Amino acid sequence: MTFFENMQEAQKIFIELGKSFSIGFVPTMGALHAGHLSLVEKAKTENDKVVVSIFLNPTQFNNEEDLKKYPTHLEKDLGLLSEVGVDFVLLPSFENIYPENYGYRVHEDKNSKILCGKERPGHFDGVLTIVLKLLMISQAHRAYFGEKDYQQLKLIQGLCRAFFIPTEIIPCPIARDEKGLALSSRNQRLSPQGIESARKFAKLLAQSKPLNEIMQDLKNENIQVEYLQEEWHRRFGAVHVENVRLIDNVPI
Ligand code: PAF
Repeated sequence: MTFFENMQEAQKIFIELGKSFSIGFVPTMGALHAGHLSLVEKAKTENDKVVVSIFLNPTQFNNEEDLKKYPTHLEKDLGLLSEVGVDFVLLPSFENIYPENYGYRVHEDKNSKILCGKERPGHFDGVLTIVLKLLMISQAHRAYFGEKDYQQLKLIQGLCRAFFIPTEIIPCPIARDEKGLALSSRNQRLSPQGIESARKFAKLLAQSKPLNEIMQDLKNENIQVEYLQEEWHRRFGAVHVENVRLIDNVPI
């Protein structure tokens, strides 16, 4: 496994590599779990070389506390990536990947304003900007995104269409634990009791009931709801459990 801390150097290598090999790319913010590893496995089966980035992107956090509390365990992440046989890992610093200090940014005006975007102003500007940078650096033929962040996935597909980026965006199904909870790095901050509430959230969201009844069921379980909304033939929910923000969505 080869590491790059310098993105200019990495891009040069990937431009050459991409002429002879297909490159699959999985962007992450670290704190890896089985969901991330399933994206890597898929990338491995569909490409000659696999690149993973680990970068806790500060520009997509609108809340400093949330950024500070985001779980990190780089050594463990690198161990997992080497076990699954990743070829390259990008480990940029903020200064290296934002040489312009976030002076340039991608802004979307429609789909980024609803759901999570409404609650987290500026969040998707940060996501789209970092993803654009990472796609340019990795020269990926294919990039893999989980459907847990379905709104993010839609926006990234739109980004590639808008800017004629040739990377194929591959949506991947939500990885869930044995009781239906969507895997997320944020789950690592929950107590065993919090995990049980988060599982209830996943179960209640998936019921075939009107939204107002689901809202009531969540309230009855003392789960604090940020939003519950249907878009793109899916039902989306964001809740707070033990001060941890959790999102999920199900097809309807
Ligand atoms: O989904 C994530 O983990 C992040 O939003 C991403 C795509 C790695 C960009 O920082």
